[in-house]
Order: sequence, then C-alpha cells, then structure tokens
Amino acid sequence: MEKDCSNESQDRTWHTSVAGPEDGHIVLLVHGFPLSKRLWDQIIGPLGDAGYRVIAPDLRGFGDSEPASAFSLGDLAGDLQCVLRDVGQWDGRRRVTYIGLSMGGYIAFEFYRRFGHQLHSLVLMDTRAEADTPEAAEGRRAAAQKVLDTGHAGLVADDMLDKLFGPSASPALKQEWYDIMSGTSPITVAAALCAMADRPDSYSMLPSISCPTLVMVGRDDAITPPEGAGHMQQAIGSNANLCVIETSGHMTPVEQPEACANALISWLESL
Ligand code: MLT
Repeated sequence: MEKDCSNESQDRTWHTSVAGPEDGHIVLLVHGFPLSKRLWDQIIGPLGDAGYRVIAPDLRGFGDSEPASAFSLGDLAGDLQCVLRDVGQWDGRRRVTYIGLSMGGYIAFEFYRRFGHQLHSLVLMDTRAEADTPEAAEGRRAAAQKVLDTGHAGLVADDMLDKLFGPSASPALKQEWYDIMSGTSPITVAAALCAMADRPDSYSMLPSISCPTLVMVGRDDAITPPEGAGHMQQAIGSNANLCVIETSGHMTPVEQPEACANALISWLESL
C-alpha cells in the first residue's frame, strides 16, 4: 500500500510518500534538483511490495513543500533525520538504506558525514562525488541570481531539460518534468544552486564508505556519465557494485522504472 502523508516538525511540514510494511527495513529515497518525490512514483510500489518500508520525501522547498531560502546540503541531510523520525517513526536504532539521485547523492555524502553509523547501505544513483569546479560553481551562482532577478525558475528547466533525459525519452515525459521543474519556487531553486556550488569535495572520502554501496547510472546519462560512476565504484572499493541501466539518461527512475526497481530489489535482497 502506498500513501501520501504530511507531518509537521520544527515548523516544517514534510510531504512524503510512504509504502510497505511498518516493520520493514527502511529505504529512504532522496530526489535530485529541481525535482520532487514524484521521481520515485514508479519505484515506491515495487519496493513496498517487496517488503521494504519506503519513505520518499519532498526535500525542503521542493514539490509540495513551502518555498525555502538559504539552506546548505547539510541542512537537507538534517531534515532527512526529521523525516525518518517523524514520518517513518524511526527510533534511530534500526539502520536504513539511503538511495539518492544526483543532488540526492550529494546530500548522501553529507548524511554519511553526520550520520554514517545509521546507514545499512547506500545507493548513489546518477550522481558524482566531486565538488563543482570554480567555473561551474560560479555558473551556478550566476544562474541563482538570474532566477531571483527574473522570478522565473523555468530558466533552469530550459537549460537542463535536454541534458536530463536520454535520447529515447518521450516528449510527454520530458514535458511532465519540465512542468515540475519550472513550478519549483525561484527562491528554492536559487538556494539549492548556491548549496550545490558550496558543497565540499566528497571524492576523497569514498574509500572510507564501508557499508554496501550500489553505484547506479543510466547508460546515456550526460550529466553524470557512466565513466565517472565506474571511477566512483572503484574508489569506494570491494563493498561497491556498479549497475548501468540501458536506454536511460540521468532520470533513471522515470526513464526505466522497471529495470531500476528490479535492480534495486535484487541488490537489496543480495545483502
Ligand atoms: C540533479 O539532478 O540533482 C542535478 O543535475 C544536480 C546538479 O545540477 O549537479
């Protein structure tokens, strides 16, 4: 069974999709930028049916959340603790599986720094561990300013849309996500761009990741390509596996939902 629930804590309402048995192993699904929990709509059901307690929140400012300004990726990692506790009735003792796509992967590294002992396993999906280059960070800050000046989040959606999807994605799927991205509030888009520009390098900490880790990537991911995913898996070491999903770009859970869900379930069951 899948349901949408909202819970309040620290003056914030968490809009979260939840599925699976309450006593199941907790799997936290963390979306990318400037996306929403709808990224996981077709993954939540199969994981819940496989017996996992699935928790997929809208991050601060995204999806159905209130617009949010001036946050860091560390703040978003802290929010995920609140979501686990308040929505997942998590007691802090059971360890969880964290699955993050792209910016959700950047937040995974912050989560690992702060709460690594709470992780049972980790999926780094269509993401990278390196910080932005100075030029890329500057570009993000300039884009943030432009979005704030114009009040138009669609500027970012215009720029990203073609890079997000592989060549086989349908125009309808791209339009659906264009609408979601451009519907994100400009202040949230600007805050997240600055948070990503400010994020530290996490590549050097990859060898210290000791939990089972799956690095998953779409074969045609133009933003975080398979070559980089392979390097990330090798840097983590023998506890990491690499899974390349065919006929998918950066948006693997919506471009190839069945292959993505099957690969996640087989890997989780192998642990
Ligand atoms: C995402 O999907 O979260 C973004 O592509 C991340 C980024 O802009 O680096």
